[in-house]
Amino acid sequence: MIKKAFFVTTLIGLLVVQAMAQGYGDRGQGMGRKGQREYARGRGAGSGGGFNGGMNALVASLPHEELSEAEMKGLFQMREEEKLARDVYLTLYQDWDHQIFKNIARSEQRHMNAVKTLLDKYNLMDPVIDDTVGIFSDPKIQNLYYELVQKGRISHVHSLQVGALIEDLDIFDLKEFIQTTDNVDIKTVYQNLLKGSRNHLRSFVSRLSAYGEVYEGTYLTADEIDEIVNSPMERGLYDQEGNPFYPNTGW
Ligand SMILES: [Fe+2]
Repeated sequence: MIKKAFFVTTLIGLLVVQAMAQGYGDRGQGMGRKGQREYARGRGAGSGGGFNGGMNALVASLPHEELSEAEMKGLFQMREEEKLARDVYLTLYQDWDHQIFKNIARSEQRHMNAVKTLLDKYNLMDPVIDDTVGIFSDPKIQNLYYELVQKGRISHVHSLQVGALIEDLDIFDLKEFIQTTDNVDIKTVYQNLLKGSRNHLRSFVSRLSAYGEVYEGTYLTADEIDEIVNSPMERGLYDQEGNPFYPNTGW
């Protein structure tokens, strides 16, 4: 009996160790949280198994903290705003067949997944009830989708202006939501979404400039837009303060 109990305990122990190793295997590192720098260094090369695994593991490694109403609202809104970006770009890609929309839509899907990781972690309902392109729960976002698609269909330049406007809105909202959360996991995800949006804005504005067009900013000021587009593309996973700490990911 004692032998059996010992065997079962050992087996459970092995399974837990194995599960942890698998969960973190894609970044090739252990669990011990001595701060994110430790996480960043890691212990092995890993297989680099996909960005979202990296973000899932990161979110799971951060503390489970209480959520305020404002934090919940922010998560619901960002989940649908990332879908708005994905869906507008997918629709405009159908119309214009320009690779920029296809590439950035793929990134928006990753952003949607990252917010979903948080919704799941906190057992929150997903506002994306229907993942069909162009369908939203929030009527304001639904209207914005129609408005932006209509504008983006006028010309290719209009479609790029729409892209820049979506990223402008995302950056504006994310900055505000970062101010109103003290949860490390939420801040970390938002900092990574923010970095992605700055890169997308750089891409759209650079494409516009090839047509001799500028994007002046709708939500952010022209100076804020300039500061972003005149700085280099950013790569890697960011921490809750927006500092790079894990360079080799698809983020
Ligand atoms: Fe984006």
